[in-house]
Amino acid sequence: MSVNKIEKTFALTTPLYYVNDLPHIGSAYTTMAADVVARFHRLKGSSVLLITGTDEHGQKIQRTAQSKGQPPQNFSDQMSAGFMSLWELLNIQHDRFIRTTDERHQAIVEEFFQRVWETGDIYLGQQKGWYCVSCEEFKEERELLSGHRCPIHTNKEVEWRDEQNYFFRLSKYQTQLQALYQEFPDFIQPESRRNEVLNFVNQGLQDFSISRVNLEWGFPIPVDPKHTIYVWFDALLGYVTALLEPEETPTLENALSKWWPINLHLIGKDILRFHAVYWPAMLMSAGLPMPNQVFGHGFLTKDGQKMGKSLGNTLDPITLVKCYGADAVRYYFLKEIEFGKDGDFNESRFINVLNADLANDLGNLLNRTLNMVKKYCAGNVPPVTNEDIPKDHPLKAIGLRLGEQVKDAYETLVFSQACEAILLLVQASNKFIDEQAPWTLYKQGQQQALEQVLYAVLESVRLAAYLLSPVIPNISSDIYQQLGFGIDFNNQVQTSIAAPFTIHSSWGILTNQNKFGEPHPIFKRIEQPKNG
Ligand code: MSP
Repeated sequence: MSVNKIEKTFALTTPLYYVNDLPHIGSAYTTMAADVVARFHRLKGSSVLLITGTDEHGQKIQRTAQSKGQPPQNFSDQMSAGFMSLWELLNIQHDRFIRTTDERHQAIVEEFFQRVWETGDIYLGQQKGWYCVSCEEFKEERELLSGHRCPIHTNKEVEWRDEQNYFFRLSKYQTQLQALYQEFPDFIQPESRRNEVLNFVNQGLQDFSISRVNLEWGFPIPVDPKHTIYVWFDALLGYVTALLEPEETPTLENALSKWWPINLHLIGKDILRFHAVYWPAMLMSAGLPMPNQVFGHGFLTKDGQKMGKSLGNTLDPITLVKCYGADAVRYYFLKEIEFGKDGDFNESRFINVLNADLANDLGNLLNRTLNMVKKYCAGNVPPVTNEDIPKDHPLKAIGLRLGEQVKDAYETLVFSQACEAILLLVQASNKFIDEQAPWTLYKQGQQQALEQVLYAVLESVRLAAYLLSPVIPNISSDIYQQLGFGIDFNNQVQTSIAAPFTIHSSWGILTNQNKFGEPHPIFKRIEQPKNG
């Protein structure tokens, strides 16, 4: 069922964000993580397609636009532009930005609908139930909070619906879905989410409605234009439309020719069912291969509640980036929150982590070591080579294992572990330099020992910078430049050629052909707000 691509390509998606409001840090979270994955695969030399975009149809958007007195298209244009500019601020290198109001998308949705229609998986029926407009999803009565409130959008009441809709025969795919989960245990990750889906599917699947009446904002059902295609049916197919080359005719065949199947759908846990149950069933019905993996991360919470546009308890990512820089924001969320689990945001913790890791451990280490090189070695790379340093040297011993360890962590999306493992090398380097006291070695005239210490520390900082580059590309580039490598990690084509993963992820490549740049701080210490 799943096709493993032999070519080294990697296609991944973020969800397509609703444009009912400007992005908040929760939406930015998935996108930052996706960018890190994309950068990591590019670093390894794969050709990568990172897809993101906006989900613009449906009742939620129509109503929000109406409440602002704007036509939905104008409103979507403004909001979608807000997402694009935030991605730029956060240094996200997406390859595609799909908007579901894109004209070409309609052709893809219609062709897909037609395939499923011809399979006989769509029929007209009566839909009765409680609908959460913020989720754009029907809820079971037992899931609701008191006062008929949605469990996710706890300040919103669900609405009763009793209308004729077209249904998709999800129930028909129960056994096939179970076989998919069984055959590919990694299809849904992490494990806790997989179990959630297995429980849900094992309880028995019900068909779901894929059309709405009394809704104009969306594509009409080709066989019955009084009905509008359900926003989720339309949105999931955005992943397919996004695969089209810019000028390509919008057919499924064109869209699926190069990058399909998608390697990874990164999503938040609230939209797991759509991606891990509905989406594969829709693809089965259309006779298409399955994506390789759906990963559902946790929520960013504030005071324990999901941060969200509907709840209005969000944190503005623009302020955060403007205040602290893109690398700082990316680093904090990826290092401090275990991907897959929920995590609370707290500004004073945010500042402490950045000061401790980036300003002190990494930044000061580089700065003071380069200054010692200036003072004790006339600013040149110490004439030491990897071979001069034994394998059991305290830093080399860590460095030799680190590349593989961090690669595994990035590949399995445990970003916090990747960052922590790298920081351990940085911390060991700080300890090493304090213990070895190069200033004393200098006074004692032990030049060779001194040079070995400085070399080992700088090489460790280099390795740390390389391995952290998917997370903090600007800081890593700065470090690499100070160490005399003309590498900009934001230019990934150049990086994959000039700093290939197989070589740069191992310890001991610094040579005295490098010409060090002028030392300068890579991350300025942040002051805690006085009343913070
Ligand atoms: N439009 C749908 C997705 C369609 S994909 C074909 C949607 N959009 S959304 O804007 O509401 O949410 C997009 C993503 O942001 C989801 O993965 C959701 O989990 C994530 N987040 C929204 N709030 C979040 C937090 N507070 N924390 C972490 N992620 C959160 O659903």
